[in-house]
Amino acid sequence: MEKLKNLDKIVNLCKTRGIIFAGSEIYGGMGNTWDYGPVGVELKNNIKRAWWKRFVQECPTSFGVDAAILMNPRVWDASGHTASFSDPKMDCKNCKSRCRADNLISAHAKGKVNPDTMTNEQMEAYIAEHHLCCPNCGKCDWTPIRQFNLMFETSRGVVDDSSSKIYLRPETAQGEFVNFLNVQRSMRAKVPFGIAQIGKAFRNEITPGNFIFRTIEFEQMEHQQFCRDGDDQKFYDLFKQKAFDFLTDLGIKKENLRFKDHDKLAHYAKAACDIQYNYPMGWDELNGIHNRSNYDLSRHQEFSGKSMEYTDPFTGEKFVPNVIEYSIGADRLTLVVLCDAYDEETLENGETRVVMHFHPAIAPFKVAILPLQKNLSEKAKQVYSKLAPHFMCDYDEAGSIGKRYRRQDEIGTPFCVTIDFETLENDTVTIRDRDSMKQERVNIADLPQLIASKIVF
Ligand code: GAP
Repeated sequence: MEKLKNLDKIVNLCKTRGIIFAGSEIYGGMGNTWDYGPVGVELKNNIKRAWWKRFVQECPTSFGVDAAILMNPRVWDASGHTASFSDPKMDCKNCKSRCRADNLISAHAKGKVNPDTMTNEQMEAYIAEHHLCCPNCGKCDWTPIRQFNLMFETSRGVVDDSSSKIYLRPETAQGEFVNFLNVQRSMRAKVPFGIAQIGKAFRNEITPGNFIFRTIEFEQMEHQQFCRDGDDQKFYDLFKQKAFDFLTDLGIKKENLRFKDHDKLAHYAKAACDIQYNYPMGWDELNGIHNRSNYDLSRHQEFSGKSMEYTDPFTGEKFVPNVIEYSIGADRLTLVVLCDAYDEETLENGETRVVMHFHPAIAPFKVAILPLQKNLSEKAKQVYSKLAPHFMCDYDEAGSIGKRYRRQDEIGTPFCVTIDFETLENDTVTIRDRDSMKQERVNIADLPQLIASKIVF
């Protein structure tokens, strides 16, 4: 309960401090959509940059792509999404609200049964036996369970018929698979190598989203490692470790993270696990790591009629590579970062300060420039101009200095630079550390290097 209260506080802080707003709010909102504000867009961009640095920039054998959201619909036949990317849903006959049967069972069973391993008939029997009623109206009168496809459909061109039907992609992964040969040839890549992408994905989720945990439009950060059969277990273990290290290096507390193997594997999968986070709502998925055998490339070979074989340049051997997929939602990671960084501290004077202990590399603003009084603003603006080419800076001259520090703590700004009358005399300022609240006096000329040295990821 206490933790859930924290989620309410975080949602509220996000709204008041320009981090995240409800989508289309002036029209009463739209379920499971959220807009990032001026502070939130910096946070999310920094998270994406940190991921790209770790999984592309620092990996000589990984290559980035930015594939189209709208793909040839045959892609989704090959991937299996048109046939089976669906959730088991049922309608309450009384209030007409729609509900996911698997979620209803999970919430009741608390880990004792796994609905992912049940048929529709088994789920219906469980719901009847345990008298699981509608969370909206309390009545227990359900329609039979039906599978609803999660892909959003749209149509291309002027004629709206089945031949013009296309989909908003429900995952970015297929953009990496269909470009396997393009990347391999253009970059002269040798297996093992990886293709990574950050981009939007869309799913027609009907269940309550728990803020940005589950949304209908979200961003994924995905990396596919192409390797030989036989090397796959090695890369599966490697990516499990790399995915975990990335999170802890970002400052996520180890005790809030755990691995969870999937109970049920797809018929082609050799292994699959999630890294879960201990959210205010409880443990749930943050990212997935899958050993997918050579299923993805084989299916595209079958459906496109194009060979997806790779020829080993040393042995001449031809094979369709296996894939180790690592996939994490940028928005879900943003939620984890927000939850993990949120802190309420009691100060010596008894006051409480809310502070976001973001890793400095992902903090929305690296430094805030604060003139002690308004008549120091000219000098303060000079300091801002000196730092702004290097870092995202905030500038604030309104209100007491204490209140301005509190505001910066709430958006996790690691450094506050205060301009006072001594600054006019000797070109020095005080720099305050967000976490220790300690201040030291430094030369303005030293600021860029000093701050840069403390925000490295
Ligand atoms: N290509 C594999 C794939 O898409 P997934 O487990 O369905 O696998 C990967 O999604 C990640 O994308 C999840 O671990 C989660 O972080 C994020 N994700 C999935 N659905 C989401 C949603 N509706 N809203 C926000 N993030 C989502």
